[in-house]
Amino acid sequence: MGNPVEIKKNIYSVGVKDWNVRDFHGYTTSRGSTYNAYLIVDEKIALVDTVKNRFSSRLLENIAKIVDPAKIDYLISNHTEPDHSSSTPHVMAAAPGATIIATAAGKSGLEKYYGGSDWKINVVKTGDTLNIGSRTLSFVATPMAHWPDSMVTYSPSDKLLFSMDIFGQHFASSGCFDDEVPYDELMREAKKYYANIIMHLGKVVKKTLPAVEQLDIDMAAPAHGLILRKHIPDFVASYKDWADCKPTPKVLVIYDTMWMSTEQMAKAILEGATRPGVDAKLIKLSVNDLTEIMTEVLDAGALAVGSPTLNNNILPTCAAFCAYLRGLKPTNKIGAAFGSHGWAGGGAKQVDEELEKTGIARVREPLTCVYKPDAATLEECRKLGAELADKVEQYK
Ligand SMILES: [Fe+2]
Ligand SMILES: [Fe+2]
Repeated sequence: MGNPVEIKKNIYSVGVKDWNVRDFHGYTTSRGSTYNAYLIVDEKIALVDTVKNRFSSRLLENIAKIVDPAKIDYLISNHTEPDHSSSTPHVMAAAPGATIIATAAGKSGLEKYYGGSDWKINVVKTGDTLNIGSRTLSFVATPMAHWPDSMVTYSPSDKLLFSMDIFGQHFASSGCFDDEVPYDELMREAKKYYANIIMHLGKVVKKTLPAVEQLDIDMAAPAHGLILRKHIPDFVASYKDWADCKPTPKVLVIYDTMWMSTEQMAKAILEGATRPGVDAKLIKLSVNDLTEIMTEVLDAGALAVGSPTLNNNILPTCAAFCAYLRGLKPTNKIGAAFGSHGWAGGGAKQVDEELEKTGIARVREPLTCVYKPDAATLEECRKLGAELADKVEQYK
């Protein structure tokens, strides 16, 4: 589960590693995750965030290796989401004299989740500070990054930002810092996390990043995954690109099929899009994971999305994809819907409506066929693929 690690003088990472979690409210965490909490030992003792409640005793054991948990003076709650706050009742039971520091929305969230009517909660806003001895911590509210209650905590004398979900990764490893894992794996997990948790908050990220950038930091300690001490500039640059869902020359052909007709269409679209310099990918929904698919969507230039018609309706796997996609609100994408049907259409049309509601600019009406694509339809599919490839080549 990991022992405490001193990340700066008298500041310890005391959270837990959840090696085996694979389903984080639908997000497939193939490398597990961590719930990071940090203990600052100064004249006053401050704990930054807690962990998922099933690990609460482990958190308290980790703290006890450094100080008696009863001596905690402040519990700084950067974020009310239960992966970070649900051990609050356990911490407050161990340290009944502690004062919780949270935003106004954080206070209300903690009270709604956990009652805590006898807890002392000091409400802070951007610019407020807390002196704990040799350090003066300051707080920056980051509403909607990730929830309305969210904030980050900054220790100027340590050049350290407790960045909450921002810069997080669902990534359990034996290492503690970003330079202790392979760089490509780190960035892949950071991208996956952004795509599945933060993509829909691009506008908020654009507002929040300047506030983070103006801080003098050499370490960012997020609430999940590795602590950044080497790759902060890479994360900031990536977040800027991801906030715009910056398109690359990539065409995704995402589909499902019943009797291989929509699959034939998908393969013809892929064939049309395949050329040097364009990353064209075929993604069948029933054999791919939505978490991984959204990671591909984040920087794709174009999406062709196909569904056959089942009972006058979209296929359930395609409906699930469309619903997830719509919630994540990708920007800067073009696309088109396609699919086969029998006597009554509907699947491709519904995909088209979903793409429209998602804000994806469609390059044509839904491309459909009855029962099975003939040579002319397959040629039209190849043309669609080529058109999408033509349009994303500008991003080279
Ligand atoms: Fe969160
Ligand atoms: Fe989180």
